[in-house]
Amino acid sequence: MKIMAGNSNLPLARAIAAYLELPLTDASVRRFADDEVFVEIHENVRGEDVFVVQSTSHPTNDNLMELLICIDALRRASAKRITAVIPYFGYARQDRKPGPRTPISAKLVANLITTAGADRVLAVDLHAGQIQGFFDIPTDNLFAAPVMAADVQARYGAQPLMVVSPDVGGVVRARALAKRLDNAPLSIVDKRRDKPGQSEVMNIIGDVEGRACILIDDIIDSGGTLCNAAQALMDAGAASVTAYLSHGVLSGSAVERVNKSALKELVITDTIQPTEATQQSDRIRVLSIAPLIGEAIRRIADESSVSSLFD
Ligand code: R5P
Repeated sequence: MKIMAGNSNLPLARAIAAYLELPLTDASVRRFADDEVFVEIHENVRGEDVFVVQSTSHPTNDNLMELLICIDALRRASAKRITAVIPYFGYARQDRKPGPRTPISAKLVANLITTAGADRVLAVDLHAGQIQGFFDIPTDNLFAAPVMAADVQARYGAQPLMVVSPDVGGVVRARALAKRLDNAPLSIVDKRRDKPGQSEVMNIIGDVEGRACILIDDIIDSGGTLCNAAQALMDAGAASVTAYLSHGVLSGSAVERVNKSALKELVITDTIQPTEATQQSDRIRVLSIAPLIGEAIRRIADESSVSSLFD
């Protein structure tokens, strides 16, 4: 087995390799003067089971191209099996046509990855489970929920909890976390978004008075959804609001927004490499997903069960 990495999240790739007690494959993933991506693998990979770790996070298109070209290089170097390990799958939110004459970019990206030569995909908390079906190759979708649940238990387990979904679409995810927290009660923020990029909290379903609220979502991008939900929960009498997110996209001034928000704490995983601003924020904490991904890779390589990781 070999672990290779693009440049999108080298600390995570190194942590995964360390978990597996393997060195990262010796390869250069660099740019020509005109910014074309060039990949060169400096060791033999013929007949190997290779896992390429690359999040398609910002700069999304560059990181996607790196992933595709890494896969192509491995295929042409006769790797036996290539698994695209995509901790954060960019374009996932474009998983359906929101209107006439619009693309389904998540499907296009899935096609590109398959055409490049990936034999299988390993992702974390895909925005929608159905995206697995966009790939005609085996696709494992890992859940950060066990890592989050352990952290919630350790930090907030002694308080009356309320798991909160920041919108109706996230209820399944929130219910799964609540189940892991001894069936904690569930509340829903009924959010209406009038224009793209704007979010507005309308109503809170459930009584959050005096409870430590655990908001859960897959992605924090501009931070609008979460910060507005946190304010609405505090206005409804919550004792505190802590948010757990799989993917800290945190675009633009999102970190600043979080720092000024009603959130007690924002907890993200390292599927996306945290920026300097994220690392410096005393309101944001990062949990590592490396052991979970490392264990899943070990099981895929051994051909043992991945789903039993979540039993
Ligand atoms: C939406 O369906 C997602 O689950 C997130 O709620 C959304 O992407 C968050 O975006 P933002 O942080 O920009 O409100």
